Amino acid sequence: MLKEEARQDIANLIDKIRYHDYRYYVLDSPEITDAEYDGLMAELKALEEAHPDLVDDSSPTQRVSGSPSEAFGQVEHRTPLLSLDNATTKEELVDFDQRIKRLLANPVSYVVEPKIDGLAVSLTYENGVLVRGATRGDGERGEDITTNLRTINSIPLKLRGDVPPIVEVRGEAYMDRVAFAELNRHRGESGAPLFANPRNAAAGSLRQLDPAVTASRRLNVFMYAIGYYEGLEIATQWQVLRHLTDWGFRVNPLIERSEDIDAVWGYCVVMESKRNELIYDIDGVVVKVDDLAAHAKLGATGRSPRWAIAFKYPAEEATTIVRDIIVQVGRTGALTPLAILEPVVVAGSTVSRATLHNADVLAEKDVRIGDTVIIRKAGDVIPEIVKPVESKRTTAERIFSMPTHCPVCGAEVRRIPGEAVTRCVGGACPAQLVEGVVHFASRGAMDIEGLGPRLAAQLVDAGLVGDVSDLYYLSEDQLSSLPRMGDKSVRNLLNALSESKARPLSRVIFALGIELVGEAAGRELAAHFQTMDNLMEASEDTLRRVNLIGDKITDSITAFMAEPQNRKIIQRLAEAGVNLSEPTVGSANKEGDISEETFFNGKTVVLTGTLTEFTRQEAAQLLRGLGARVTSSVSRNTDYVVAGTDPGSKFQRAEELGVNILSEADLLKFAKGESK
Ligand code: IVH
Repeated sequence: MLKEEARQDIANLIDKIRYHDYRYYVLDSPEITDAEYDGLMAELKALEEAHPDLVDDSSPTQRVSGSPSEAFGQVEHRTPLLSLDNATTKEELVDFDQRIKRLLANPVSYVVEPKIDGLAVSLTYENGVLVRGATRGDGERGEDITTNLRTINSIPLKLRGDVPPIVEVRGEAYMDRVAFAELNRHRGESGAPLFANPRNAAAGSLRQLDPAVTASRRLNVFMYAIGYYEGLEIATQWQVLRHLTDWGFRVNPLIERSEDIDAVWGYCVVMESKRNELIYDIDGVVVKVDDLAAHAKLGATGRSPRWAIAFKYPAEEATTIVRDIIVQVGRTGALTPLAILEPVVVAGSTVSRATLHNADVLAEKDVRIGDTVIIRKAGDVIPEIVKPVESKRTTAERIFSMPTHCPVCGAEVRRIPGEAVTRCVGGACPAQLVEGVVHFASRGAMDIEGLGPRLAAQLVDAGLVGDVSDLYYLSEDQLSSLPRMGDKSVRNLLNALSESKARPLSRVIFALGIELVGEAAGRELAAHFQTMDNLMEASEDTLRRVNLIGDKITDSITAFMAEPQNRKIIQRLAEAGVNLSEPTVGSANKEGDISEETFFNGKTVVLTGTLTEFTRQEAAQLLRGLGARVTSSVSRNTDYVVAGTDPGSKFQRAEELGVNILSEADLLKFAKGESK
């Protein structure tokens, strides 16, 4: 009785799982969560383990079954798997149609199906249970790959609904582009040879002697034909597809009926435009006469039936030779290796260059200068090098490695560990300058109104700006010489630039565009180091101790500050009067990082009169940067009054109170750290 209960439970679970497999793998419309599904599977496995005698071969737990084999056996197909004649033009399609009309008295209609670029498989079901799966082979006999085909989840191990005693169905096994890209990426990483295309990947996966490997490959099928059947009445190809669907097979939803050859042509055109949006490769459209009685009448010529034709699209693949590999520097400083190719036509257009993305991809694909390579233009418009044809290698190929210095500006290039991109760290690299200027002027950074991408590009193109510090040395004349820069725009820009000099240090740090240093990091760094000088000299250990600053940011800051070009930019910003310090309250010392006590540190200072070297605002920034508190009125708490020419009442008040009075020269001297 207990056995009976277990048998019943197992049967119920199998029914449930089969249903959910169908929803998930065939209809692509699951009803339960993965966790719920896993729960059902675990329950079934446990029951089957407790009752090994109740394990059925078509149980969903038995998809991967049997041990690796030595070789595949041969299978004779009950009816041969034919191949198709091709058409590549509308005229050839029309010829095909006319030939048929000549041979048949009646008008014909067609079924049009995307031609999946995979490999044909044949599946035999006895009383609804999968008993054999085979490759096409030579059309008469194929290889027995039952154990491998069983691992494909969209192939039912047991059919749904009313099933004939024997049926042999045919379709295409394939690997979609996502699974293909992922598989090749893994293979590249582990040094395994890459597959040239999804079709080869699918073929390779189905010819594995170990079904567990096939199971790991994410293959799929679309079924499109019934090869042999008993006990069924079927009149049309459309009904064939209906039956396949009812039995639980995956049938391509893009299949349609076409009334005449004009409609067929329309479908071919539409499908070609959709070709790139599909997740799987198609290499054309298969056009089939719908009426099966007509098939018998039309027969075949040689190996190809007269009732069907393949309309083929231009190949998405070609081979060519890599003439050279160069490096391009993008606006963000990213270095991209680019293959210069012997021009070749792929999918209708000439390809003469192809990106190799980055150092990792370059290494994984192992493309060398002089290699013969397979080019593929599928899924997207950008042509890609799939892999070198290793069998064509001589010893003349040269291995290319990423440069250590930027090919544009000569600055060092760096690759942050864990990231794929190699970047030029030169802050004055023209290739990344425009982007850098735009970032510098942006809202959260120096907030320079009116300085957007267009003006930034103009300034760089005209040679007026070679790095961001040049912005502060632009003259009215220079700006007026630019197209579309009227007097008013020039004045506004100069004002905006001048205003921006007072931005807090945190913003300046962010504005420099140091990789990985965002606004928050800028604030932490400014609060911690107080001055740009301190930040420039900070050791890696000190940097790492700052809140939010981890190893990667530390590396990035250190590299940036080590670059002489970048230090020069900072120096010129300082010379232009850009604020490079934080206003301090009390001592600037924090954890002993700022070691020098400055003359003005912690002092209260008032500015009066006209200064010659600075505006008053600039002098105030300088003082704040040195740790002073700058106030506007003189009191007993005032430590120093800095007096320029024509000082007013504040000077008198200072004299009355006996406050120390400094000249502009004193200010400069003490600011430079010379003590009194
Ligand atoms: S019908 C005689 N339908 O194309 C009927 N074939 O060149 C031949 N294929 O070996 C098969 N999608 O591998 C048919 N919807 C489709 C197809 C299709 C892809 C492949 C199949 C066949 C080859 C013929």
